[in-house]
Amino acid sequence: MYARVTPVIVDVNPFIYSRPVSPEEIIDRDGETAALLRHAVGGHFVRLYAPRKYGKTTLLKRALADGVRNEGLIPVLVDLYRVGSLADVTIRIERAYARHLRGSLRDRIEAFLQRTGLGLSLGAYGIGARIQTTPSTDPLAALHALLDLPLRLDESGSFRALIAFDEFQDVGRIDGLDGLLRSHIQHQGDVASYVFAGSEPGLMRRLFETRGRPLYESAVPLRLGRLADADIAAHVADRFVATGRGVGEALGPLLEAAEGHPQRTILLAHHLWERVPSGAAATLDTWRETHDAAMNELDGEFDAQWRRIHASEQKTLRSIVAGGGSPYRQAILDRLQLEKPTAQSAVRRLLDSADLEVDARRYRVVDPLFADWIRRIDAG
Ligand SMILES: Nc1ncnc2c1ncn2[C@@H]1O[C@H](COP(=O)(O)OP(=O)(O)OP(=O)(O)O)[C@@H](O)[C@H]1O
Ligand SMILES: [Mg+2]
Repeated sequence: MYARVTPVIVDVNPFIYSRPVSPEEIIDRDGETAALLRHAVGGHFVRLYAPRKYGKTTLLKRALADGVRNEGLIPVLVDLYRVGSLADVTIRIERAYARHLRGSLRDRIEAFLQRTGLGLSLGAYGIGARIQTTPSTDPLAALHALLDLPLRLDESGSFRALIAFDEFQDVGRIDGLDGLLRSHIQHQGDVASYVFAGSEPGLMRRLFETRGRPLYESAVPLRLGRLADADIAAHVADRFVATGRGVGEALGPLLEAAEGHPQRTILLAHHLWERVPSGAAATLDTWRETHDAAMNELDGEFDAQWRRIHASEQKTLRSIVAGGGSPYRQAILDRLQLEKPTAQSAVRRLLDSADLEVDARRYRVVDPLFADWIRRIDAG
């Protein structure tokens, strides 16, 4: 048994940057949440786009929670991160229902799943256990049964499910899966709404914007952008005050460095808070230490990211950073020994992976701290 104790650590850092955050910690996004729910309740499917770490999962969780509270929806969040086979997908969907269903509805669905005789269960030992002990198990029948669950939910009362597939771009790696999904969900307009969230525009486009693909134009697009400086400023300043500190003169440079990138904003605020003692306010020196600490923490991640991309993409990123947003300045291309056509195809690939974005013909590295890191390489 655990003993009841008075916590020793009471002065905790309010800025969480390593996992999706709870609805109270969300900056802005009211409009996006409302739009998502409006489409869902109206029976439309939604595809949610944003670069990595822009708060997709956070938004999905918030929308599901609001959907339960305000619209009586049954929430199911399926994480498809790195799925590679139909068996993976089957297990992820079963576990999602196991996490989300409650009460008598859960009992009825569990009884239904057991009657299928396919090894499905909302308990501790579901289809994953069956696949491990009997590797010859064909997951397809189980996947069909799971994809039809919204119809079963509806039979147990008049329920609408809100089913969110997170990291949906990974569906593209499994042959035929988008067709299989479509064959089920197209008949579920009255009982289920689907949200498909993904971070790689190239892969998402291939699934939803390629004529002839099963999900072609089947979902309303919704994009998550950067956060506005005014919203960030209020959020950060309030949390410093609520924990007995002041953000002081560090706020300006923090906003400038974070460029509205949601996770980078909170990461910088976290490191800043760590350096301000209770009762004190941050200074420009605190800010400089904060920025160095954040860059040190991220160095390994950036180095790995850099090694993963092609040399032509590395040079193109350097060219964009050095050129203040224009990739094709001749003097810079010459210095980097980069041909313009090579840079042009690298730009397309970097846009597809959302490492780069373009606005009024100016290019920008999506992650502002990665841009700083690249600038340091360029400076030797
Ligand atoms: N609207 C927001 N308000 C405050 N913080 C946010 C917001 N959106 C994202 N964040 C910050 O970004 C971090 C990552 O959020 P989340 O995991 O939801 O992003 P994601 O887009 O799902 O990331 P990934 O691409 O890694 O799946 C959170 O821990 C939080 O610090
Ligand atoms: Mg996520």
